[in-house]
Amino acid sequence: MNESENFLSLVERWLRNHRELGLKEVYLSPRGVESLLSLTARKSKTISLEKRGQKEKPRSPFLIAEGFSLEELPRGQKGLDLIRKELGNCTRCRLSQGRTHLVFGEGNPEAELMFVGEGPGREEDLQGVPFVGRAGQLLTKIIEAMGMKRGDVYIANVVKCRPPDNRAPLPDEIATCIPFLIKQIAVIRPKVIVALGKIAAQALLNTTEPITKLRGRFHLLGDILVMPTFHPAYLLRNPAMKRYVWEDMKLVRKEIDKIRVPS
Ligand code: URA
Repeated sequence: MNESENFLSLVERWLRNHRELGLKEVYLSPRGVESLLSLTARKSKTISLEKRGQKEKPRSPFLIAEGFSLEELPRGQKGLDLIRKELGNCTRCRLSQGRTHLVFGEGNPEAELMFVGEGPGREEDLQGVPFVGRAGQLLTKIIEAMGMKRGDVYIANVVKCRPPDNRAPLPDEIATCIPFLIKQIAVIRPKVIVALGKIAAQALLNTTEPITKLRGRFHLLGDILVMPTFHPAYLLRNPAMKRYVWEDMKLVRKEIDKIRVPS
């Protein structure tokens, strides 16, 4: 396989994973679209992508289907406030029908470390705050064992409304909600994200690899390090797995402790 065939098969795999996650569109920078189109024309492979965005200023490769683009959002709390406003009294998917509160996220808007879970449970839905039930209490202990306070980090979920009976969020629900998480990440700009459990890890990394294969090492989301690890709810059922999470958190702590080079 030559270099461009290699690149094409990577792009194909990436698009297939997106489709499996229920994402219907991807946003490419104009340069990305141009090079893809020239490559696909040469290879006469069909990758159905709109030429959308070609006349616009370069944007992030993430899909942002509506509202502010990542570049327009201010950093920190101001950006988070705008994203919350954009979500409004969201009825974009069926999960809105059963919710008490939309659970946006909580914590330091300029956190170096962010935790991302799957979606609110019963307690979180009642209080409107992420990770406050039993799994949340364990997460707080994990954060404290890392020598930090809950208020030092930012905590959010892939979907912002509670799935009925705590079922896993469905691909179309993830696809609808994840642009808002990506925006939260973009304005917080953490150094490291800990993806809690399979749903968060697979959604953020756009992969179908099992959590057992993903955990234990860093992955990249742009220039942000992502450490997938087991979900605290899974640890409540399988306490013997806590030691693996601790191994992962030690790697995270080490990264956080490294001096950050100003960008
Ligand atoms: N589980 C999650 O994934 N998120 C929460 O906020 C609570 C439990």
